Order: sequence, then C-alpha cells, then structure tokens
Amino acid sequence: MCIFDAPKMISQNTIQQILSRIDIVEIVGEFIKLKKRGANYLGLCPFHGEKTPSFTVSPTKEIYKCFGCGRSGNTISFLMEHEKYSYTEALRWLANKYNVEIEETETSPEYKQQQQLADSLYVINSFAQKYFSENLFNNEEGQAVGLGYLKERGFREETIKKFQLGYCLDEREAFAKQAIKTQFNTELLVKSGLVTIRDERVVDNYRGRIIFPIQNTTGKIIGFGARIIKSNDRAPKYINTPENEIYIKSKILYGSYLARQAIDKNDECLLVEGYTDVISLHQAGIENVVASGGTSLTPDQLRLIKKYTNNLTIIYDGDSAGIKAAMRGLDLALEEGLNVKLVLIPDKEDPDSYVNKVGAGVFADFIKNNKKDVVIFQLEVALKDAGNDSVKKSTVVNQVAETISKINKAEDFTKQQDYIKQCAELLKIEESGLNALVNKFIRERVSKQEAKLPINEAIYHDDRSKKGASSIEDDTLSLLQKDELHERSMIRSLLEFGLREWDENKKVADYIFEEAVDQEMIDNKLLVRIMQLYKEMYEANLEPANKFFLHHEDEEIRNLVTRIMDISDDLSPNWKDHYDGKIFTRDELYKEEVFSSLNYLKLRKIKRLIDTNQKDMEKPHSSEEQLMMLQTHKALKDMEMELTRQLGTVIFR
Ligand code: GTP
Ligand code: MN
Repeated sequence: MCIFDAPKMISQNTIQQILSRIDIVEIVGEFIKLKKRGANYLGLCPFHGEKTPSFTVSPTKEIYKCFGCGRSGNTISFLMEHEKYSYTEALRWLANKYNVEIEETETSPEYKQQQQLADSLYVINSFAQKYFSENLFNNEEGQAVGLGYLKERGFREETIKKFQLGYCLDEREAFAKQAIKTQFNTELLVKSGLVTIRDERVVDNYRGRIIFPIQNTTGKIIGFGARIIKSNDRAPKYINTPENEIYIKSKILYGSYLARQAIDKNDECLLVEGYTDVISLHQAGIENVVASGGTSLTPDQLRLIKKYTNNLTIIYDGDSAGIKAAMRGLDLALEEGLNVKLVLIPDKEDPDSYVNKVGAGVFADFIKNNKKDVVIFQLEVALKDAGNDSVKKSTVVNQVAETISKINKAEDFTKQQDYIKQCAELLKIEESGLNALVNKFIRERVSKQEAKLPINEAIYHDDRSKKGASSIEDDTLSLLQKDELHERSMIRSLLEFGLREWDENKKVADYIFEEAVDQEMIDNKLLVRIMQLYKEMYEANLEPANKFFLHHEDEEIRNLVTRIMDISDDLSPNWKDHYDGKIFTRDELYKEEVFSSLNYLKLRKIKRLIDTNQKDMEKPHSSEEQLMMLQTHKALKDMEMELTRQLGTVIFR
C-alpha cells in the first residue's frame, strides 16, 4: 500500500467523539429502508438482490448482518462497503454528519518527508507540462514537428489543450536547462524521469517526442507518456515515467480524471489500450473512457473502476495482444462483481483509427451493437481452439466452471445461474453437471480461504448447525474448533460483560485478568491483541467499549470483533440446549459463561503442560530431576481433575 493513500491523520480524540455519536440505525437508514422488528431493524439487503428482507440491524450491538448473503459489519464497514469509502473517508463522512470538528494530528516526520517529496514531484510535472505545451504551440520546431503531427492525425486544437499535450524539443538539454534554472533539485528531476544523467550531464529524456501528461483521478499530473514521432526500430514507441512515489503503474488508468463524470452518467466505463484511443473518443464525444496502457488489468485498477460503475466494456482491436492481457484480469473483474463486456474493433483498426474512419455516430452504434459477454467470448474462443479434441474440451469445461465460480455468489446469484445455462448450452453438456462443477470450485476455494482465517469461522458455524453429528466430534479439527470457540467466547465475555460486577470487590474484567494471567492461555494472536488493548484502556480508566473495537482502525480487529458479536446468537451457547423449558439468555448467565470459558482454557493449558512434562520425562534425567517431574505431573493431574470436576458441574458436557 502506498503511503500517499494515507491522508492526514484524524486525532484519537475526534475519532472517539465520532464513535460516541454513531447510531447505526440512523446511518444505515439513510441508505436503505428499515422497519423495526423486535429489538432489531429489518430491511432489504443492499449487498445482494432479495425480495423479502433479511438484512438485520442491531442498535444495541451496533452491527448488521444479512441472513441471506451472510454479510455482516458495523457502521463504518457499512459505509466502506456501500459507499466505497476508505476507513478515513467513512470517518470524515460521519464527522460531517454529526457536526464533529475534525482535529488532525501531527503526522510523523517520515510521512511528512514523503509528502514533501511527492509535492515536489507534482510541482516539477506541472512545470514540465506547461513547458512542453508552450513548445508545442509557440516554438517553431514544436509547431512544425509536434503540432503538425497531431493535426495530421486529426486532433483538434481544443482536444490537444484538453489533454494538455506537449512536445519535447529534439535538443540535448533544452528542458533540463530550464528546470535547473528554475532551481529544481537534480535528484528529483531524475526521479521524475524527465531527465537522465549522461556523461555527468543532465540531459532530456523525451527528446523529439509528443508528450502525454498522465493525471491521477484528482487531476494532478503524476507522470508522462512520450511518443516517438517517426517510428524507429531502435527506439521504443513510448517512454514512460519510471515508478516513483507518485507514478505507480498498477494504479493508473489514463483518462480517469476526465472520464469520471461521464462514467457516472452512463453507468459504464469503456476501456481501451492507448492514450490516443482515449483522446480520439473524447473528441468524438465519447467521454466515459479510460486506457490501461496495454497491460493486464490490476486489482487496483479494477477497484478504481468499481468505484464509479459495475459495467466495464473493453474495446480492443481484434488481433491485439492486449486482449490476452486484458483477459488475464477477467477472473479478478468477476470477483470484484463487475459485468464485463467486450467489443472487438474490426479490420486491424484500433478505436482511434476506427472512430476517425467511420465517425462518431457509427462508432457509438457499433459499440452498442457488438458488446459480447466476456465469459461467453472466452468460451467460444477456447472451444474453437479445442475443436474435436475431447481432452482439450474437458479442460475448457473446467476452465469455464472455474471462471464462473469466481462470481461472487451472494451478490450475483442470478448472474451465475445465467452463465451456467448459457455455457452448458455452448458446451453441449448438462446444466446440472456444470452447476456441480462450479460448486466444486467454490467449495475448494472456500476451504482454502478458511485455512487462512485467524479463526476458523465457517467451520464454527458448520459445527453448530451440525450439532449432534458425532462423526466430526473426535477428530482433531473439531477439537481445534472448540478451542477457538472458547477463546472467542472468553473475549466476547470480556467485551460484553467486562464492566459488570463479578462480586462485591471486582468487575468481570478484573476477574478475567487475574485468572488469565499469562497470554499463553490464548492461541489466537489477534484475540490476544484485543485483550491487551482492552487491558490498557481499562487500566488507564478509559472505559473500553465495544464501539472502540467494532470501529477500530485495524481492519482485522474490526472484522474479528464483528464476527464475535454475532447478532444471531443471544442465547447462551452453554445452556440453551440443556434446560428444558426455560431458556436462558447469555445476559442472565454471564458469570457462568466467563467461568466456563476461562476454565476450559485453563484446562487446555494444564493438558498442554502435562504433555510437555511427559515428553520431558522420556528423556534421560538425574533421579532428582525425575522426582521433580513426577511431582509436577501429580500436581498438574490434580489440577486437571479439579477443573474437570468444576466444568462438569457447571456445564454438562
Ligand atoms: P498510436 O500508435 O500513436 O495510436 O498510439 P497507441 O496509444 O494507439 O499505441 P499502441 O496501440 O501501440 O499501444 C497502446 C498503449 O500501450 C500505448 O498507449 C502505451 O500506453 C503502451 N505502449 C505501446 N508501446 C509502448 C512502448 O514501446 N513502451 C511503453 N512503455 N508503452 C507502450
Ligand atoms: Mn493507435
């Protein structure tokens, strides 16, 4: 992640003020209609299509959960997901809403230094752009060579100005001299890519080339593309700014600044390969267009597009190598939930030459009438490739199933079903077979992802839905889940009941910190961190509230705490199955919950100690040592028995 994504820091004080005012029902209610249902609020889920509401908001827990697609989160994650805000943007939005004045903290010296470096690069680029444009329009060579070339290609003056194009004189150091005279730092000039050092002299890098300034989404110039005028085998067609603090290739979409509004208005983003394609389409009145620069789409670029629209139309020339490159980004695009269409420009033309040839109207119609779904397109190409080869064909089936499986199912279930239907038809296979294959890929991926989760959540849910199924009871995996359940349960008790009374002398938090003295009791590092954070606040007499953790700036903490505070579970996990007739809520039984979770973790710890001790005993030792170990073993065994007895009387399992 680039440091320049980090805007100025909002002070902790301001964050606390904002958090204390958050009302999740009010905020979520601004975007979707909510109806009160019992203690919670219910509405249609904004994250997946549904006709009966299953999106539940809990005002007391300050979280939401959709029982249809499973999405859950808090106020800030709602804004982040629904409005595509960053964490800080969400905070700023809330501050504005609740009239909280934002106080910004001093930024770190490193950050400041980076910021200054970036600012200097922006200044240099802006200076260079003006200098090159001046050359293009007012210098004799610029007019004759540069402007002449652009006009010959059909670019009008207003278009050239809109895109701030320029020309770099074909001289050794014309720009460098000006830049140094203006007292720009040589090191920074080199970083900007505008000059290089040759034979200990600062010389121009883009000599005799047309200059295409590249803007970021806010319109600042982050770098350049410099095009050669007469094609030349020995020199590259384009030279680009080298990667630096502000020019990060994977995040660039050429034209995004000028296309923003049109993309929004059309709810569609056209993607082309080249700078000149973007410019020509603009000139033809088609403004919702950006260029990737001919490389495969990166996740950052896709996310940028997704901020504006869900509809991406790739317009490439028919036999461009760029199609292959773009296709490499296809699975990612599907995962991001984008609808991707493809239009191939015929006759070896590219969008720039084609629009110049047929005119704006015909071009627009052509795009409209020739959009092809990209998954179907890919399948058709692969099928043509495979011909009658049955091995190849089965590979194609697998590939297309995998691609379809990438579509976020919760979000786009009908889309996925549509694809399965269409592709099965093209492949001449049973729909149900393809469906099963797609599901196989989804399952495989889900289990891979779960292995990476800090807490094995899905299994945790699975375990509970399959209560009573004995087959998994005794395998180690299930033991592990139980461990995690108890760790999680203890932290949940701490977060929910920490400030309640344990006895006359202490609160629940005091009891937990007394009993869970050493951190080895909890395996999950993130849970340990949450516990430490809680402790720090508690000891500093700052009441640690769920709010603080639910809205923590660390995404991992936010997500974990949200999951721990599951809405669906207000009944005590330990008791609800065992007392016929009377069902207890966790709220009534908080002491028992704390007690049993702690004891379980203690028991686990003791079992581990017994294990280590036993392994130790197997090694050769002096008789004194042997005796010590035996005593330790006995003591541990006694503790184990006592704990088991206590657990047995408190919870019946
Ligand atoms: P024209 O030929 O002037 O119409 O330019 P174009 O933008 O159509 O170029 P082309 O279709 O050949 O390439 C598409 C894009 O790929 C360009 O806009 C550049 O971003 C990139 N590209 C092409 N050639 C080069 C190269 O030699 N070096 C670099 N760095 N990028 C290139
Ligand atoms: Mn071109």
